[in-house]
Amino acid sequence: MATTTQDAPLAAATALVEKAKADKALRPTIAGFFDEATFTVSYVISDCATKEAAIIDSVLDYDAASGTTGFESADRIVEYVETSGLNVVWLIETHAHADHLSAAPYLQEKLGGKLAIGADIVRVQDVFGKMFNAGSDFERDGSQFDHLFKDGDTFRIGNLEGIALHVPGHTPADMAFLIGDAAFVGDTIFMPDFGTARADFPGGDARQLFQSIRRLLSLPRETRLFLCHDYKAPGRDVFAWETTVGQQRDENVHVKDGTTEDEFVEMRTSRDRTLSMPNLIMPSVQVNMRGGRLPEPEDNGVSYIKIPVNAVGRPAK
Ligand SMILES: [Fe+2]
Repeated sequence: MATTTQDAPLAAATALVEKAKADKALRPTIAGFFDEATFTVSYVISDCATKEAAIIDSVLDYDAASGTTGFESADRIVEYVETSGLNVVWLIETHAHADHLSAAPYLQEKLGGKLAIGADIVRVQDVFGKMFNAGSDFERDGSQFDHLFKDGDTFRIGNLEGIALHVPGHTPADMAFLIGDAAFVGDTIFMPDFGTARADFPGGDARQLFQSIRRLLSLPRETRLFLCHDYKAPGRDVFAWETTVGQQRDENVHVKDGTTEDEFVEMRTSRDRTLSMPNLIMPSVQVNMRGGRLPEPEDNGVSYIKIPVNAVGRPAK
């Protein structure tokens, strides 16, 4: 597993955390925006010296019953960015989400910035392109995005340095983004009392997820971790989305120190068998595989979301 000294991206990420620990100016300002409809946290990460900013995992509101999109969640971010005087340079997706639609194209139009995702999105596009029988006009080369991050790629937000880490398992293309002393871990790990992300979507792999999580937990204990979702664990009344590597290593109910890979895989696969598909999986996947854009409108000017019957998930009871 990738926690040895040969793991150059992890070593570089560790160095970034150490630098940020020593120099406050290298620690990002972070604002989290929680969407209760999908339990998703979107982040605006900014450099207070230059006012440059990145937006991670934004949400486009979607009413499944009527097929209507809305911008309330995205507009909260627009308002924050504008009142804070920020200049958005990146719009980053940690992965192609299956539980909410991305608002990245809407935010890009309003605020600018480059739209980016992990390079293995092409594998996800291939799988879902086939599943939804998307026509040949649906490119499966990641060209819907302005930038595709590979493991170890570095980037900047003003004076802040960032590094992308490939953390497959939930999907093949999942990335985590370490910026200063803060890691945005997408769907890998959740709050310590809730555990980890599911690994049963097409291309998901519980064993890979364990390795990716343990890789993230090899970062310094003080590293701040910002999660993509929170569902409130039983007994907890408030939503939470920030923790640390140390807290996860000590307390995470699925992967704390001492948990073996086989134990995790057994727990994860049996738990995943009990989970139903996310409510918004059909619209989310079809929109997010297109970089957050609706499918091409048909000749009446309307975009349609398809539902493949009996092709995804378990039979209804
Ligand atoms: Fe996800």
